[in-house]
Parts: sequence; C-alpha cells; structure tokens
Amino acid sequence: MSNESKQRSRMKTKYAVVFICIVAIVIIEKESNILSRVSKQLIQRQRAQQTPKKTLEYSNTTQKGSLMVLKSLLSKLYDTKGNYSNYSEDIEEEELEDVETKSNSSARKHVLLMATTRTGSSFVGEFFNQHGESLFYLFEPLWHVEGMLTSAAEVSNGTVLAGIYRDVLRGLFLCDFSPLEKFISPPPQDHVTPALFRRESSLSLCEEPVCSPVIKHVIERYHCKIRRCGPLNLTLASKSCLSKQYHAIKSVRVRHLETLQPLVEDPRLDIRVIQLVRDPRAILASRMVAFSSKYQMWKTWAQDGQVPEDDEELKKLKGNCDHIRMSAEVGLSKPGWLRRRYMLVRYEDIARYPMQKAEEMYKFTGIPFSSQAREWILRNTQTTQEANDVYSTQKNSSEQAEKWRFSIPFTLAQVVQSVCGPTMKLFGYKFVNDEKTLINKSISLLEDKLFF
Ligand SMILES: *[C@@H]1O[C@H](CO)[C@@H](O)[C@H](O)[C@H]1NC(C)=O
Ligand SMILES: *[C@@H]1O[C@H](CO)[C@@H](O)[C@H](O)[C@H]1NC(C)=O
Ligand SMILES: *[C@@H]1O[C@H](CO)[C@@H](O)[C@H](O)[C@H]1NC(C)=O
Ligand SMILES: *[C@@H]1O[C@H](CO)[C@@H](O)[C@H](O)[C@H]1NC(C)=O
Ligand SMILES: *[C@@H]1O[C@H](CO)[C@@H](O)[C@H](O)[C@H]1NC(C)=O
Ligand SMILES: *[C@@H]1O[C@H](CO)[C@@H](O)[C@H](O)[C@H]1NC(C)=O
Ligand SMILES: *[C@@H]1O[C@H](CO)[C@@H](O)[C@H](O)[C@H]1NC(C)=O
Ligand SMILES: *[C@@H]1O[C@H](CO)[C@@H](O)[C@H](O)[C@H]1NC(C)=O
Repeated sequence: MSNESKQRSRMKTKYAVVFICIVAIVIIEKESNILSRVSKQLIQRQRAQQTPKKTLEYSNTTQKGSLMVLKSLLSKLYDTKGNYSNYSEDIEEEELEDVETKSNSSARKHVLLMATTRTGSSFVGEFFNQHGESLFYLFEPLWHVEGMLTSAAEVSNGTVLAGIYRDVLRGLFLCDFSPLEKFISPPPQDHVTPALFRRESSLSLCEEPVCSPVIKHVIERYHCKIRRCGPLNLTLASKSCLSKQYHAIKSVRVRHLETLQPLVEDPRLDIRVIQLVRDPRAILASRMVAFSSKYQMWKTWAQDGQVPEDDEELKKLKGNCDHIRMSAEVGLSKPGWLRRRYMLVRYEDIARYPMQKAEEMYKFTGIPFSSQAREWILRNTQTTQEANDVYSTQKNSSEQAEKWRFSIPFTLAQVVQSVCGPTMKLFGYKFVNDEKTLINKSISLLEDKLFF
C-alpha cells in the first residue's frame, strides 16, 4: 500500500470519528430533552405524593452526568416506591405556591359542583360521575339534611344550616358517612340503608362490591338503574371511597360560597369548587315546566300581563339570584383562601362546547380527563349518528339550552330581568326588550365572556 492510500484511509477514519461524535452529540442533546420531560413528570408525581421542596440542579450537570441522572430517573419512574426527594427542578413559582398551600396533601382531589336547581347540574355532574374507576361521585347527598332540617325550627337560621351542610360534606369528602347517616330516614341499621337518595345516580354506589346485586341479569355498565342492588352498606361505600383518588360531589344546596371556607382550608382536603350558573330566565322557564303546580301563580301572572311587585314569589326569585351572584362575586374576587380553587362555569357554554368545557373543568380540578368521560360526553351531546360532523354536538345541545326562549312568556322574561338584573349582567346574559328578540334564534342572548 502506498503512503498516499494509507493517508487517505487515516483521513477516512478521522472523518468517521468526527461523524460519530456529531451523531453522539445529537443523541445526547435529544436525551437531555427527554430527561427534562421525564424529570417534569417525576416531579409532578413526587408532588402528588409527598411534597418536599428540596432542589437539585441536575440541569447544569455535564452531559455524561445527565445521562446517568436520566438512567436513574427512568429507573425511578417505574419504581413507585422510590424516594424522589433528591430530584426536583426549578419549580415554577405558581406551582410552588400550590404546593405550599397543601404541604402534605396526598394525590387526592375533591371537587364540589355547586349549583342551583335547573341549571343542568345533573348533566354536568355526569362529566365526573362517568370518569371511571378512580373517582367516587355522590349526587345530592345533602338532600337528606335539607329534608330533615328545613322543618326543624332550630335550624331555620341559615348560618347553622350552612355549618351542618359543610360538616356533612367534609365527612363525605373524607369518606366518612357518619355525619350524613344522622340525617337519613329511617336511620340506617348497622350502617346499612335502603334509602339513600338517588343512589343509582352514583356509579360508585352501583359497582361491586358496594352493590351486591339481588337479581343478576345482563347489565350494561352505564345503566345502573336496571340493576337491583341490595340495601346500601355504608361501611362498604366508605371503603370504596377510600380506595379512590378523586372525589366529586354535586349539590344544589350550598347557598353561600363563603360558608365553605373552613372546608376549603381543611388540610386533609384538596378542594376545587365549580360554580355552575345559568340564565335566570331559563331557570324560571324550566322550573315552570318541572314544578308546574308550584308555578301556577306565575302562569296566571303571564296571562294577566300583571305581576304584583311585592309578592313573596318575586322576593324568593330575587333572593336566589342575589345569593348566586354574591357567591360568584366572592369567587371571582379571589380571596386568599380560595385562590385557584374556584371556577365559574355557565351552563350555556357547556351546552355550546361540551367537550372543551369539560376539558377545562378537568384541567382546573387536576383530575385527568378520562376516555370514559370523553365518550360519555360525546354520546350524550350528539344529535345525529354522523360522528364526523363536528358541529352537530355544538348545534344540538345549544339548541336544547335555548328552548326556554320559546316557552317563557315575554312578560315573565321581563320580570326576571328587572329582579335579577345585576346577576344577569355579571354572567353576561343579554336583556331583551321585545318578544321578537326573545324568540329570534339568530340573536344570541349570551355575551362571550371569560371568568377569571
Ligand atoms: C453551570 O455551572 C457553571 C459552573 O459550574 C456556571 O458557570 C454556570 O453559570 C451554570 N449554568 C447555569 C445555567 O446555572
Ligand atoms: C439523596 O442524596 C443523598 C445525599 O445527597 C444520598 O445519601 C441519598 O442516598 C440520595 N437518595 C436517593 C434516593 O438517591
Ligand atoms: C427521602 O430522602 C430524603 C433525603 O435523602 C430523606 O430526608 C427522606 O426522609 C426520604 N423519604 C423517604 C420517604 O424515605
Ligand atoms: C399530614 O400530616 C399529618 C401530620 O403531620 C399526618 O397525620 C397526616 O396523615 C398527613 N396526611 C397525609 C395525607 O399525608
Ligand atoms: C344564627 O345563629 C348564629 C349563631 O348561633 C348567630 O350569630 C346569628 O346572628 C344567627 N342569625 C340569624 C339570622 O338569626
Ligand atoms: C357491611 O360491610 C362491612 C364491610 O365489609 C361488613 O363488615 C358488614 O358486616 C356489612 N354489614 C352488613 C349488615 O352486612
Ligand atoms: C338533540 O339531541 C337529542 C339527544 O340526542 C335529541 O333527542 C334531540 O331531538 C336533538 N335536538 C335537535 C334539535 O336536534
Ligand atoms: C332576527 O334577527 C336578525 C338579526 O338581527 C334579523 O336579520 C332577522 O330579520 C330577525 N328575524 C325575525 C323573524 O325577526
């Protein structure tokens, strides 16, 4: 071999080495990206479990070092028992605050869906009920408390009632049914009751082992109602509750958001409150249909075209509107105790964009938006079978939500506007000055509005 060819071959080797080095650098570069993602994930997990706040600046270690760290991180990612406290990151400030407010919370999350009747709360509650195995959902447990106490004179004082609601909710969020048991009638025997209100509305109470079917027949997962469960063993319900990471309760009975402060501040809980509101005109229209006999008076007024201004019914309507607004004002004013724990949602927005709103709500609660929940929402908001018609969902459910415009007499719409004006303004519901506008579908009565 000539000198020349030897040299050429040496050059080739050199180039090869350089090339390999470049490839290696690119790979390492990529890996450090992965590293950073993996670390984020780990840190989130770590935060979810225990929350020490030590930091280790792995980000400024050498590439070789970072590969080691990557390996070590990866091994930990699959070892849930690992001690992650040595690995942390430049945690963003707001996340830090969150950590601080709940210094030793576990990964448990608690959601209170706070609404009033006829706001679509059962439907929105399903967004959580349908989450799947790791969420324990209760539908209107305070019904029992209200039922037993509204007749009792000693608690006609709203402050006392609110305190009882809060204590029962606290118990339930902690999977302790005993505060609630006191209000179930007839009283449970050995913590067993056949009388829990709307038990079938909680999937968690319809699954084995909480539900031991009396009659076994073909059961569809989402048709709890046809399944006959035996009496509810609350001890079992509590066990099931404790085994689940997420807890959600829907209630139309909490009147004032501020009465929840001690609950929100309870270090054992990690509460998020979602206040669901709806156009008060729609609520009235819906109530007139649902509770027809109770609203006979309103129908008469509509026919006569005259509404007595100082009627008790009007005062009640005003009271309802005012307390909804006042709760929202408390929430939107972001008091320290409620920071990042309050979200206001309009039913109309959910009707227009169910999936997006559900996504936002889940994001807010910190609970992963499960595919089961997604599927349920898809199934229950679709008009037609054409799954690829993106707009059908939006169009149909928003049509549903606007039906009231054709059922409410214009006179009554005006009454609501005069009584609930400030509430409507706050939530962005537009006033109508004539019947034509009320029933003209191409005119939206909803201002686009974001609530922070
Ligand atoms: C990384 O460490 C070196 C010295 O060890 C320091 O000069 C440099 O500023 C650090 N970089 C960062 C991003 O912290
Ligand atoms: C964390 O770091 C300490 C010393 O800095 C070390 O002794 C300990 O073993 C480390 N823990 C883990 C789980 O790596
Ligand atoms: C994790 O490691 C840190 C420091 O290495 C230690 O202080 C802490 O007690 C450990 N935690 C657990 C649960 O082992
Ligand atoms: C929080 O800390 C207290 C005492 O420091 C402890 O009893 C409790 O079990 C902890 N809770 C969780 C969820 O870790
Ligand atoms: C309700 O009871 C609380 C405490 O017992 C008392 O402070 C409050 O003034 C009462 N409110 C009304 C409206 O009676
Ligand atoms: C309810 O369930 C608990 C826990 O499994 C059990 O110990 C208890 O005997 C049950 N009660 C009744 C009345 O079956
Ligand atoms: C909207 O969807 C519901 C449920 O699928 C259906 O019953 C209703 O007829 C639809 N409404 C319109 C206006 O398409
Ligand atoms: C409904 O409102 C639109 C937009 O203001 C208007 O163009 C249309 O003529 C109205 N329809 C009726 C039936 O009044």
